[in-house]
Amino acid sequence: MNKTAFFDSLTEQKPDPLLELIAKFAADPRPGKIDLGVGVYRDETGRTPVMKAVKAAEHHLWETQQSKSYIGPEGDPVFLRTLASEVFGERRGGKPVAGIQTPGGTGALRLAAELLALDKRRKIWIGTPTWVNHQAIFASVGLQIATYRFFDIEKQTVLVDEMLTTLRNAAPGDAVLLQTSCHNPTGAALSQQNWRDIADIIAAKGLIPLFDNAYQGLGRGRVEDAAGMIDVIETVAEAMVAVSCSKSFSLYRERTGAAYLFGDRQASLNKAIGNLASYARTSYSMPPAHGAAIVAATLEDPSLHRTWVDELSEMRTRIVEIRLAAAEAFGQFRPELANIGSQEGMFSLLPISPENVRQLRSEHGIYMPDSGRINVAGMRVRDIASVAERIGPYLT
Ligand SMILES: Cc1ncc(COP(=O)(O)O)c(C=O)c1O
Repeated sequence: MNKTAFFDSLTEQKPDPLLELIAKFAADPRPGKIDLGVGVYRDETGRTPVMKAVKAAEHHLWETQQSKSYIGPEGDPVFLRTLASEVFGERRGGKPVAGIQTPGGTGALRLAAELLALDKRRKIWIGTPTWVNHQAIFASVGLQIATYRFFDIEKQTVLVDEMLTTLRNAAPGDAVLLQTSCHNPTGAALSQQNWRDIADIIAAKGLIPLFDNAYQGLGRGRVEDAAGMIDVIETVAEAMVAVSCSKSFSLYRERTGAAYLFGDRQASLNKAIGNLASYARTSYSMPPAHGAAIVAATLEDPSLHRTWVDELSEMRTRIVEIRLAAAEAFGQFRPELANIGSQEGMFSLLPISPENVRQLRSEHGIYMPDSGRINVAGMRVRDIASVAERIGPYLT
């Protein structure tokens, strides 16, 4: 056998379509081009700035940090405690909680997936469409995946009845993936009553909810965005939450996140966290420290916390403003798209074919993935009417 035959024998992997899209956008010389594909928040000038609170926290760390010695697989306890207070508040029915710091929300989802996959009979139920990485993460640990339709793209509405029927028919011990708020890719929001119904079914059937909480504060508000999740946590026996600080602290590349577990006994939670820590130990060993130190410093200091809250509200207000204008502009082409105004977070999903997405790209320099997902924060308010006019004729 040729000595280099192993590498050559490997299956060619497709490049990430979103990264490909970014490269195509960068290479497009047209001045009026618009990138609606990117999955990061953009301000009105098209930038993804470092938050002022984050800069100040970094400055404080630079002045005070005494060591960069190892922090252990569970991460920084101050980060875990302050983030839990911020995310879950004082509610949650006094339920015990335990957490582990992870490399981003993706790291938390992966650790949770490892734990869930220990029971080979277990399925994880995922509503579709969903974030492109979800199925791949769960498949990579050998977890059985079952899907149900969550959103009707044509009607721009959540298929709540299908969701509830599916959950009623799930087997005890199965897991259910739920996005806490600002659903990626649809922006679809669940009502308080929907969350109550979900909580009741999960509790009655003995299912395990896994929340993917990646956009808290970018929908209706920091507290409002978590209300449905907390209702569920208070009602069910056990719950898992994957928190990402990438969007809400604009810390994307710092890879900052955490996995939290809720249950009835602290001792069981600590045992489960020990299991998560042992997965961490054999893959990345310990989470990166810098982003978590920034988050802890921001949340602990009242003045930095206030600055961060204001900046987050500014981001949310901009998103709401864009959504209202987009609802009017896109609604003229498809009345259902007026729902963009009541959807939340950065994403909405347009009814458009992949062929038309490509044509739109080549003829008008408007970039989005084949799915038709748009990042509304990729638009400037003053451009919305003209963007809608260019996209409108391509909608199905
Ligand atoms: C729904 C959802 N979950 C999780 C993540 C992962 O975020 P992170 O960059 O913190 O790994 C993302 C990122 O785009 C997301 O959209």
